[in-house]
Formats: sequence, C-alpha cells, structure tokens
Amino acid sequence: MKAFTKTKYGGPEVLQLEEVEKPVVKDDHILVKVMANSANPADWHILRGKPFFARFSFGLFKPKDKIPGADFAGTVEATGKNVTHFKIGDRVFGETLKGGAFAEYACVPEDVCAAMPPGTGFPEMAGVPIAGLTALQALITHGQLKAGETVLINGASGGVGHFAVQIAKAYGANVTAVCSGKNIAFVRSLGADQAVAYDQENIHQHNGKYDLVIDTNGNLSHKDFRRMGRRGVVVGFTTMGHMVSVSLKKAVSRFPLTQFTAQANTKDLETLAILIRDKKIRVHMEKIYSYKEIPEAIGYIEAMRTKGKVVMVWENVPGKA
Ligand SMILES: NC(=O)c1ccc[n+]([C@@H]2O[C@H](COP(=O)([O-])OP(=O)(O)OC[C@H]3O[C@@H](n4cnc5c(N)ncnc54)[C@H](OP(=O)(O)O)[C@@H]3O)[C@@H](O)[C@H]2O)c1
Repeated sequence: MKAFTKTKYGGPEVLQLEEVEKPVVKDDHILVKVMANSANPADWHILRGKPFFARFSFGLFKPKDKIPGADFAGTVEATGKNVTHFKIGDRVFGETLKGGAFAEYACVPEDVCAAMPPGTGFPEMAGVPIAGLTALQALITHGQLKAGETVLINGASGGVGHFAVQIAKAYGANVTAVCSGKNIAFVRSLGADQAVAYDQENIHQHNGKYDLVIDTNGNLSHKDFRRMGRRGVVVGFTTMGHMVSVSLKKAVSRFPLTQFTAQANTKDLETLAILIRDKKIRVHMEKIYSYKEIPEAIGYIEAMRTKGKVVMVWENVPGKA
C-alpha cells in the first residue's frame, strides 16, 4: 500500500511517499481503508519532535512510529476477532495519535472510532476527530458548560475553535468569539453572539466577564483568565515560556483552570456524529488537498492561521451515503 513515512525528525520535507506492507489487523483493531485525512498542529509537533519533551513519548533520537497521521475517515476492510462495534463495509471516522493514518490502510483500535452519520462525506468527517473531540472535551468534560452560561472562546476560527463555537451554541451557551478581523463574519456565521477582533482590540485588556473562558490559541495569561472568567480551560500554548508560566501560576492559585490532552473515545465521537447529523455543527473545509500533497497540507497549517479545517483526500473517494 502507499503510505507517507519518516525516519527522522524535521519539517514536512522529511515525509516520503512509499510502498509499504499493508498492516495485518490485530484482535481488538479494525483495518480501515482510508478515504480522507485532516491535518492538525499535532502532526507537525510530532513530525518535528517539538516541544522536546514530546520525544519521551514519540522517540528520543528518532521517531518510533514510521507512518505519521492521526485523523482519518474511511471504510472498514477487516475486523479483529474481539471487535464488537463494527463490521466490514462500515463507514467510520476516528483518530490515532500513535500515527499510521497517512496511508491507504490504517490499523486502529475500535475504541478510537465511530460510525459516520448518514449523509456525510469522507472529507468532512476526516476533519472532525482531533479538533471536534478537543472542542467538546474543553467545553463539556472540563469546562462543565451549562445552558444559559456565557463563554469566551479565544482562537475561535481554527479547527478546534470553529467546532467550539458551534458546540457551545448547541449546548445553549451565549458565545463570544475572539479571532482576527478577517474572520469575524466567519465566526458569526457559525453562531457566535458577539465577536472580538484581537487585531483591533487588545484581548489582554478586554473587560468582559464570562462563566467560562476557553483558550485554543494559547496566548492568554493566568491573569487574563482570572480577569475575564469564573473558570477556564487551556487548550493550546504559543510558547514553552507561556506554558510554564500558566502551569506554575495554576499550581499556586485557587482559580479553577484546567489543562488537558484530548482523549479519543467512541462515545464522544458519537456525540459529535449526532451533532453533525442534526445539523448543529458543520465542518468548514478551508482547503482540500490530494493525499500526495500531505506534506504541503502540514506546511500550510504550521502557520496557525487555518480557517476551520484542512483535509486531504485519497484516490476515488466515493460521495456521501
Ligand atoms: N489540548 C489538546 O489536547 C489539544 C488538541 C488539539 C489541539 N491543541 C492545540 O490547540 C491549538 C489550536 O489547534 P487548532 O487545530 O485549532 O489549530 P488551527 O486550526 O491551526 O487554528 C489556529 C487558529 O489560531 C488563531 N490565532 C492565531 N493567532 C491568534 C491570536 N493572537 N489570538 C487568537 N487566535 C489566534 C487563528 O485564527 P486567525 O487566523 O483568525 O487569527 C487560527 O484560526 C494548537 O496549539 C494545538 O496544538 C491542543
């Protein structure tokens, strides 16, 4: 099968499209014929081995896993003998942070997948897993958002942010979205009640008060969270210095601030599938690349200015079912 591979840390140029052996399905795994992928900041962090401490998980001197890629959508080609949830031919979407998704076939645990809702296509569903799970878990699992509450979402126009705006609205919150001026109309089209352009108003002096503050961009200080929010959730970080500063202040403060790493699970993926089926959330695909351009797609999102999601499609992708 065709797959992108890497043997050393570096930028998108270290990726090579090669013929490799098709994986053999394990007992509690499914073998997915991949129809589409999406690109996430995690892809270039893992590719570059940055921040450095990530190498303790992904390989100290060189990457442990040969095939990169996390988000996928495709059809089940084979099932392991312990698999109960899926059968051959099912249309599924999911994520594997262990890599392996930028390939024609990916062998993944069944519990990081869910069935695609009817009427959806592979490219849009490939855009959902990491960003959608992160938005859902930030707002609901960790942010404990309730209907009628107010939420500020900093970094509202990217992969995580554009899902967060829509999910918060679907759960009955009043949403203030923070993004660049060029994306104000976009976040309003997603349902944001108010929008703040960070290039026109200094967010570090914004004096609004919110039940929950979610920072997907990762430039809010601990002081910003305390000034604006009753509780907060940190999703991303801009620099190591910022990460250390927020973490240290969080350790000595009673302000309820949560940092987390999103976890893939079937239940949360099914919640996202229902929201998509019921047209409560949609996937905005800013760019659609061919699988051959996966390195270019990763290079594009590295600028951190993505509007919605960037997806990559494999050959002969069937339409919506
Ligand atoms: N904790 C976790 O488990 C987890 C999971 C997934 C992602 N993350 C992290 O979350 C972050 C966002 O991920 P993503 O997939 O949403 O990235 P993305 O799709 O690349 O989006 C980045 C967004 O950042 C916005 N942005 C840039 N500068 C900004 C600023 N000064 N203020 C506010 N927004 C700004 C951009 O919007 P404009 O173009 O409008 O400026 C863009 O929409 C990344 O750091 C990622 O590593 C963490």
